[in-house]
Amino acid sequence: MFDKLYRGEPTFDGAPPPTGIPWDVGQAQPRLMELEALGGITGEVLDIGCGLGDNAIFLASRGYSVTALDGSATAIERARGRAAAAGVDVAFGVADATDLTGYDGRFDTVIDSALYHCLDDDGRRSYAAGLYRATRSGARWHLFCFSDGNVNGVLAPRAEVPEQNIRDTLTANGWRIDFLGPTTYLANTSSFAGDPNNLPEQLRRQLPPEQLELMQEVAKRFAAIVPLLDDDRVHLPFTVVHAVRVD
Ligand SMILES: C[S@@+](CC[C@H](N)C(=O)[O-])C[C@H]1O[C@@H](n2cnc3c(N)ncnc32)[C@H](O)[C@@H]1O
Repeated sequence: MFDKLYRGEPTFDGAPPPTGIPWDVGQAQPRLMELEALGGITGEVLDIGCGLGDNAIFLASRGYSVTALDGSATAIERARGRAAAAGVDVAFGVADATDLTGYDGRFDTVIDSALYHCLDDDGRRSYAAGLYRATRSGARWHLFCFSDGNVNGVLAPRAEVPEQNIRDTLTANGWRIDFLGPTTYLANTSSFAGDPNNLPEQLRRQLPPEQLELMQEVAKRFAAIVPLLDDDRVHLPFTVVHAVRVD
């Protein structure tokens, strides 16, 4: 699904080609930049589910040694192009976050900018365990994912991750949560603002009623605010987690 989106192809049968990539804002996430400025990034960095690479490129430009991995080969190819244009070195690679091998004991800081909520429960458990193996003593994991909050009335466009899910998954796999709280994530409105009534009937029938209801509410709110936005950008409600690897 993600690779098709990065190639600009319909992500399911009967869908129109995507109008954009909602998380492609052409810059690092503002909350990640603040975290870096406040000293939250140390040592060898892993940006997992790096997408088009803007967070990794920002950190490399600040002098960090960064490995950036994603399951989509197209995303990684495009991210390499962006890093070359920015004149920075990032060790990009294609990898499945739920089956992370070959990186044992490598990293001191992990950045997860909107990956965790893409995984199902089994995937989240394997991912958390894999990150434990891939990190060193005292490593920190900064995780950003959809929340059930709202930012001045803007809702997350898909199901949020319950706090208890994060707590259970991380603590069961060797991570201690030092902080969990609300934050925001910068996105553009492409493919969030669409009315779910325009989806192919076959797809609509597969979606749970509460998901359709949420999509309708999100589309209604976005329709009202899109004409007011600068550069089509919107701040989405997220949760941020700062966790430490327990030895
Ligand atoms: C919402 S995007 C966020 C991209 C980027 N971190 C950002 O904030 O701009 C989620 C990314 O996770 C990647 N992804 C999803 N499942 C994955 C998996 N199992 N292993 C590795 N990457 C995955 C997708 O290809 C996509 O690039």
